[in-house]
Amino acid sequence: MKAQENKTGLPLVQLGVTRPEELTALFADLRGRFDDDCACACDESTWKVFRDRWLGRKSGVLTQITDNWLKPATPELKRAVGASLNELRSHVESQIEARRAAIESGAEEAAVARERVDLSLPGVIHPIGSHHLICQVFQEIEDIFFSIGFSVVEGPEIETPYYNFEALNIPEFHPVRDDMDTFYIDLPKGAATPLLLRTHTSPMQIRAMEKRKPPVRVIVPGKVYRRDNPDATHSFMFHQVEGLAVDTDITFCDFTGTIEYFVKQFFGAGVKTRFRPSYFPFTEPSVEFDVSCIFCGGSGTAAGGGACSKCKGAGWIELFGAGMVDPAVYGFVDYDPKKVSGFAFGMGIDRLAMLRYGIDDIQVFFQNDVRFLRQFP
Ligand code: PHE
Repeated sequence: MKAQENKTGLPLVQLGVTRPEELTALFADLRGRFDDDCACACDESTWKVFRDRWLGRKSGVLTQITDNWLKPATPELKRAVGASLNELRSHVESQIEARRAAIESGAEEAAVARERVDLSLPGVIHPIGSHHLICQVFQEIEDIFFSIGFSVVEGPEIETPYYNFEALNIPEFHPVRDDMDTFYIDLPKGAATPLLLRTHTSPMQIRAMEKRKPPVRVIVPGKVYRRDNPDATHSFMFHQVEGLAVDTDITFCDFTGTIEYFVKQFFGAGVKTRFRPSYFPFTEPSVEFDVSCIFCGGSGTAAGGGACSKCKGAGWIELFGAGMVDPAVYGFVDYDPKKVSGFAFGMGIDRLAMLRYGIDDIQVFFQNDVRFLRQFP
């Protein structure tokens, strides 16, 4: 470029050009240089510099030729210089435009290539989840009770003290309320009734009996809440399945037979059951149901000798509370205690799942660690 700039910077006389024929070589040389230069403009920014070098108004090559060669040319040269210059100008302008178009479409092609969707790539796999273990156990329990004529109902997790306590024969200052540290809900002053997170699914006994006349056979799966500090066996939220059967002739035998049927379906035909006296204000008599230890087969002795760590050598594991519905409860739902009888039970699902699947920390149910959850597809 230097040589060329020098040439176009000087008048023709100084270049020793005096005859029109001598212009041919001069312009051919310029055209060759332009073509070389053009080939080097391969992106937008180098193309701009290139364009200005040749077409720039003040000091572009064509301006220089006009100023230094054409304007001061002798009359016999002027025509020829003008003609050659026009020819060169049209070549320069068309090539610069062609180059711009080429660069633009090249950039477009590159972008298209970059953004192209490669349909041959394997797709993104969205793993399909599965039911949480607690859900699976709920379903298993529901199926067992379905098969013997129970239906499933659900109820509110936010309850009134009436349903959670009073109608279950637990009046306000009854000491049993101390066992159920309760979450009360902050309500605006003047609210009609206090509200609380239900501490058990038993309020649904009342709601179910209010809604239908005997016979009633329902189970109620759901979440319950207590102000328990979290540890391996406690959580402020856990799950229960309540059961209630009320009819005109339900006996204690129906009660224990039903529970035994359930326990054998759930844990296997080989287990034994027993019940011990217990106390709940809404059942009379009340019992605690035990199952023979599923880890040591009820022997109380671990496989390698010594006491079984799961049942602490007792051979029995406490399962859940139950009992015959206390006649006082019927008074709250307009059932005639002289005509009807029934039984109720309330089992902790998390506990049942832990026993059945050998899980020793209730917290894993709620930590949502997929490594745990994937074990129960
Ligand atoms: N509601 C009781 C509890 O949560 C369990 C229970 C239910 C006991 C039904 C007897 C009858 O501890």
